[in-house]
Amino acid sequence: MDRIRIIDSKNYVEKEVEISGWVANKRSSGKIAFLEIRDGSAYFQGVIVKSEVDEEIFSLAKSINQETSVLVRGTIQEDSRSKFGYEINIHQLTVVGESEGYPITPKEHGTDFLMDHRHLWLRSSKQHAIMQIRNEVIRATYEFFNKEGFIKVDPPILTGSAAEDTTELFHTEYFDQDAYLSQSGQLYMEAAVMAFGKVFSFGPTFRAEKSKTRRHLIEFWMIEPEMAFVTHEESLEMQEKYVAYIVQGVLDHCDHALHVLNRDRKVLEKYTQLPYPRISYDEAVDLLQKNGFEDVEWGIDFGSPEETFIANHFDKPVLILNYPKAIKAFYMKQDPERDDLVLCADMIAPEGYGEIIGGSVREEDYEKLKQRIHEFGLKEEDYEWYLDLRKYGSVPHAGFGLGLERTVTWIAGIEHVRESIPFPRLLNRIYP
Ligand code: 4AD
Ligand code: MG
Repeated sequence: MDRIRIIDSKNYVEKEVEISGWVANKRSSGKIAFLEIRDGSAYFQGVIVKSEVDEEIFSLAKSINQETSVLVRGTIQEDSRSKFGYEINIHQLTVVGESEGYPITPKEHGTDFLMDHRHLWLRSSKQHAIMQIRNEVIRATYEFFNKEGFIKVDPPILTGSAAEDTTELFHTEYFDQDAYLSQSGQLYMEAAVMAFGKVFSFGPTFRAEKSKTRRHLIEFWMIEPEMAFVTHEESLEMQEKYVAYIVQGVLDHCDHALHVLNRDRKVLEKYTQLPYPRISYDEAVDLLQKNGFEDVEWGIDFGSPEETFIANHFDKPVLILNYPKAIKAFYMKQDPERDDLVLCADMIAPEGYGEIIGGSVREEDYEKLKQRIHEFGLKEEDYEWYLDLRKYGSVPHAGFGLGLERTVTWIAGIEHVRESIPFPRLLNRIYP
């Protein structure tokens, strides 16, 4: 007899198999018991007919508790009533580990309760579907950048200086020195790109941001590609191609997960169509002002209402280009035609999910970069190595960072970023 995973049921129709898993749910009548079995690969229905099994197996099935771990043996059958399409007719049922009083029942629970039980909540079918989409975005990311000739470089997590806003640094001690958890691997990726031409990183990043919104995590994962000898335009094209590729990956590989999440494939299909619309920062300000955003003046950074309004104006992700220099990071290259702007872009996801990518052309001139470091009040000695990159064969280069969790939240069509990562770190939450 084969020990199989539920996901492979289609290859075992009418065959006797063994499955190890957990009882996700149960209902029964006098003559028949239904156990919803999950094994990590999928969920499906187990059917136990009283007249077909030993007395003790049927009574075990009737009394078994939610989340008991079990070994089941039975025959795989097609099940046209379920979207999954298969079920198992159980003959043998053995308990591996008991479960008593499992706290997450099929009834409604509040968010705090679920977050306190995140270690268990992960077992539910909705969370399972979201994690499958996350996994696919990760898989497609590696595939995409490998196909495009990038190599993965891992920047450090413990760093001595800031890559982004210095007010959002997590401080720690590095023996007798100060250290910070990485906000972005970008500066290191700029060093790497001068060695390898096209690189990407994929790792955790940390922001001590006092933001409590449905888009903000304290610890999140970022994909940061960096390219040497590219223009702003080429970087924008890479961004849209990448985002379309991961959406296509989810459409190709996560049909069942999308079904569980009630996510309309038609909506996602639009996002695989290139190009994505673009609008300059100046045009975005105009658009907002003409539509009743009275507080919006040239020079402000957009908040979530502004981003959502702009996003709703288009039916695909939109790239907002060239923001004022004063509100963006020190490393961004000044627009050669406008000294008040930098060559950058934010990609705003549709449907109100906010910014998923931030990217820019990098200042490649030694003197200009040094001046920016001083203007931002940063210590030149911390950035000496970074300035070196402009001393020895500096080249035009650009890159961007895509936030994994915001992207998963958007593609999955879920409400809050906290469900897009297994163990979210949020303002006021580090448990479990
Ligand atoms: O726009 P950000 O801050 O850009 C950078 O860090 C650049 N150094 C990236 C680069 O050019 N290599 O962050 C990039 C993306 C955002 O667009 C967003 O998707 C995500 O990271 N992000 C967050 N996601 C969840 N929670 C937060 N607190 C986030 N902050 C940024
Ligand atoms: Mg940003």
